[in-house]
Amino acid sequence: MIIKSIKLENFRNYENLELSFEKGTNILYGDNAQGKTNVLEAVYLSATTKSHKGSKDKEMIRFGQEEAHIRTNLDKEGMEYRVDMHLKKSKSKGIAVNGQYLKKAAQLLGLLNVVFFSPEDLSIIKNGPSERRRFVDMELCQIDKYYLYNLNQYNKIVNQRNKLLKDFYHNTDISETLHVWDMQLVTYGKQIIERRKEFVDQLNEIIYGIHKNLSGDKEELVIVYEPDTEAENFENALRISREKDIKYKMTSVGPHRDDFSFVANGVDIRKYGSQGQQRTAALSLKLSEIELVKKVTGDNPVLLLDDVLSELDSNRQNYLLNNIGNIQTIITCTGLDEFINNRFSIDKIFKVTNGRIESEN
Ligand SMILES: Nc1ncnc2c1ncn2[C@@H]1O[C@H](COP(=O)(O)OP(=O)(O)OP(=O)(O)O)[C@@H](O)[C@H]1O
Ligand SMILES: [Mg+2]
Repeated sequence: MIIKSIKLENFRNYENLELSFEKGTNILYGDNAQGKTNVLEAVYLSATTKSHKGSKDKEMIRFGQEEAHIRTNLDKEGMEYRVDMHLKKSKSKGIAVNGQYLKKAAQLLGLLNVVFFSPEDLSIIKNGPSERRRFVDMELCQIDKYYLYNLNQYNKIVNQRNKLLKDFYHNTDISETLHVWDMQLVTYGKQIIERRKEFVDQLNEIIYGIHKNLSGDKEELVIVYEPDTEAENFENALRISREKDIKYKMTSVGPHRDDFSFVANGVDIRKYGSQGQQRTAALSLKLSEIELVKKVTGDNPVLLLDDVLSELDSNRQNYLLNNIGNIQTIITCTGLDEFINNRFSIDKIFKVTNGRIESEN
């Protein structure tokens, strides 16, 4: 999979931009606030239909404009694809592939797979459970459409159930309605739990070797899925917590409360790991994500490295750059110093200045 070019119109701080990428390593460098991350956001959006930082469509439209357009040209297994995305202020986005409009945005998933790596990802192990769930969800949604569907349904029902719990007055009987929601919650929730379990197994097969290498043969890393409730117990757990849910007006059990722990040599490094250990494990996780996408889709994802190299010491930088193999990579950084001591070859360099980009080679 290669992104050949991208064209932006009124997207973030770009009025009009056309960029052609090389198939190897592409660097976008420039001072802060010039628009480097915005380019990666546009690429990520073309792959997942969502912003990597959770921005709304209207926030990505250039200030003072009504609409934004992104056109991405891809080469996937010898076939060319054109993805057109049209962001609107108050309506949902329009997407077309090779000129054919998609009825649902989710139909786009699977065409372009990307792995996004930013400095915040290095904190995924020390941060709270919601960030780890978000990582797992974002990844699974890219590689598994059923998961995406189940997750959307599940989230919708949790919201509706919570709303019912909030709106309910003590003299009305809501047990009938709750029962209906609970049955649906269990149906979708079980599938989410099973798929997360499988995902963690798949990741563990990959991360073990990567982390062993990265830690200089010192650490054996295992990811442990900690479901809030096992799939077969979910229905029962909902029943048991019903009174509590009514009292606190929210759904207190289910996969929206899941967590994942990272255990190195038998120690839970979420709680007991040093900062360096946590960051190394996070890097192993990202590298495993690349391998997993390759394995599941049979194709290389495009790697987006947002300002992440300056966060790593030279050993880890080298490891990362030497182990991504021959996949297309788009790297942002403020200066080119990071590469000077590296054996790494760069195929294309762009300088980003205030919403304009010039090629330097
Ligand atoms: N909707 C928008 N319309 C116009 N400009 C925007 C919009 N959203 C963000 N910007 C501008 O984009 C710029 C930030 O771009 P970006 O995050 O890509 O910077 P960067 O080059 O990655 O900087 P850093 O090195 O600090 O990460 C900011 O100056 C911001 O004001
Ligand atoms: Mg940035």
